Amino acid sequence: MAMLETLQTIKRQAEEQLATLTSTAALDALRVRVLGKKGELTALLKGLGQLAPEERPTVGAQINEVHAWLNERMDAHLALLQARERELALQMETIDVTEPRPMPKIGAAHPITLVMHELIECFTGMGFEVMQGPEVELDHYNFELMNLPKNHPARDAQDTFYMDDNIVLRTHTSPMQARAMLTRKPPIRIICPGRVYRADEVDATHSPVFHQMEGLVVDEHVTMADLRGTLDAFAKKMYGEDVSTRFRPSFFPFTEPSAEVDLTCSSCHGKGCRICKETGWIEVLGSGMVNPKVLEMCGIDSTRYSGFAFGIGMERLAMRRFGIRDMRLLYEGDARLLGQLR
Ligand code: PHE
Repeated sequence: MAMLETLQTIKRQAEEQLATLTSTAALDALRVRVLGKKGELTALLKGLGQLAPEERPTVGAQINEVHAWLNERMDAHLALLQARERELALQMETIDVTEPRPMPKIGAAHPITLVMHELIECFTGMGFEVMQGPEVELDHYNFELMNLPKNHPARDAQDTFYMDDNIVLRTHTSPMQARAMLTRKPPIRIICPGRVYRADEVDATHSPVFHQMEGLVVDEHVTMADLRGTLDAFAKKMYGEDVSTRFRPSFFPFTEPSAEVDLTCSSCHGKGCRICKETGWIEVLGSGMVNPKVLEMCGIDSTRYSGFAFGIGMERLAMRRFGIRDMRLLYEGDARLLGQLR
């Protein structure tokens, strides 16, 4: 009978298609086409009226049977497809934690920062305390209390950035000496690292911004031997036991007597090389006994107390440490270079 044949064809085709389906969306489409309200089986049921009345119940029952059977098969297949799709989604989302990745770039401390930390460690180990102050400084502290009155010729040595008549970008860290003496009572033992400014042209050994570290000790019975011993200990701690200091007479208005201090060149150990210009020594700081006039201006009784001070150029130490001969390399911020200087 034609209708039962059609029923078998629908069943067979639906079964075949079901077996090839790979997505739940395609399965839904098949379900609508075969079992839906306007689907193939529904159309067959509607055609029952054309059959002889005695045939209708058996044919109707067979259609319903096929409907139930296909419905069941589709449900089973749907469950399968859903499981597979979930599996796929999970696979796409998994992260392989063992997969090698490029190393993240790690920053490094700037050479000046490194040297500063070493200096701080060295001097705090000797009982010094770190004190910091303003880079925009009063002329009064930067010059006058440092025994550099207005119109004093020694001011010319420091090409100053003036904000106005009374405010400057500090030309050295020495104003911290005044700030310390005016706010503390002896014994004073401080170091002051920081930026300083001079209206200098940029070249291999000059920069309008550079770094110093001031040191100041004020107490009873402080002598030049204490200065020498302190700086010698610093030289040995930073550069090794065979490094010592050499004092050369010098002049600073705020210290008397004053000395430029050289350290044994650590690359040739004093024999003479390119870095120390064949002298065996490298100049790293200015120093001296605090001028009694400065003590008095800063409210310290110079008949009872004495002191010494020093100012270390940090660029020089960093350049020497890393064998750099052009200071500009320290400021250009080239990460390839800075990454090498650890
Ligand atoms: N302030 C001086 C300079 O900048 C260095 C110095 C500091 C000298 C302390 C003596 C004592 O050159």
